Amino acid sequence: MVETKALIKATLDAGREFFRPPGERVAGPAPLPAEGVKQPSVVVPIRSIGPSHRERITDHLLALQPQDRYLRFGYAANDEQIRRYADSLDFDRDEIFGIYNRKLELIAMAHLAFSTDPDLRSCAEFGVSVALQARGRGYGSRLFDRAVMHARNEGVDLLFIHALSENTAMIRIARNAGALVERDGSETEAYLRLPPATMDSRMSEIVEEQLAQTDYRLKVQAKQFWDFLGAVQEIRRGVRDARDKSGR
Ligand SMILES: CC(C)(COP(=O)(O)OP(=O)(O)OC[C@H]1O[C@@H](n2cnc3c(N)ncnc32)[C@H](O)[C@@H]1OP(=O)(O)O)[C@@H](O)C(=O)NCCC(=O)NCCS
Repeated sequence: MVETKALIKATLDAGREFFRPPGERVAGPAPLPAEGVKQPSVVVPIRSIGPSHRERITDHLLALQPQDRYLRFGYAANDEQIRRYADSLDFDRDEIFGIYNRKLELIAMAHLAFSTDPDLRSCAEFGVSVALQARGRGYGSRLFDRAVMHARNEGVDLLFIHALSENTAMIRIARNAGALVERDGSETEAYLRLPPATMDSRMSEIVEEQLAQTDYRLKVQAKQFWDFLGAVQEIRRGVRDARDKSGR
């Protein structure tokens, strides 16, 4: 689990980045580490998201390539099926976590679905997707950690992950967390037993959520600032062009 101290530092560092134009940084998947080489845990603000973000969830999922839709849903979901899935998300019962970039695009999300079966109240299922250009940076793993922390705090003691056996990245995330992984042909089920919640896990979740909300608000302000600046430049350009045309 990422330490709260590290998260606070990362949020403060990120604050300095906000007021650089959003297009300045080059996006792209990070190179994967060589086998056996352990990367340090990435620190990224992850926030719990609500129904007002449904459209962005839909956009994020619709942007997944056919193969990734297949890996995410276990079948080749078409646009209609993805829209139906997003529309049916129950934000009261389940928990959705998201990572946003500086343009406020949802670049990674996880769905922690709680069991609706009264006999299986202490079980939940984890599903995740990371935008292609943001893969290999540890976002999938961090979303998993975040979901585990929340599930623990909600009294879940068994977390399920359903993956296709070819899904090396997802299986690695589950294995790294200590899940029991059972392969059955093309399908793989992973089960992670969760320890009970502690005061520390509860406090960590509250602090992480607060920091992630602050990070998001800063991103909103920075985006508004750049949009405003863009509009001012547009007006200036218009005035200059008009002046040039009139020969003054
Ligand atoms: C699975 C997925 C969420 C992983 O996201 P990610 O942010 O790229 O994952 P991470 O960067 O946290 O990497 C997780 C682990 O998998 C490894 N990994 C990542 N991509 C990999 C790849 N293509 N091949 C092999 N290993 C890979 C990483 O090295 C890391 O292992 P390590 O911590 O032992 O080094 C992403 O590939 C995805 O969205 N796929 C499509 C949807 C999907 O498959 N969802 C899961 C089913 S619910």
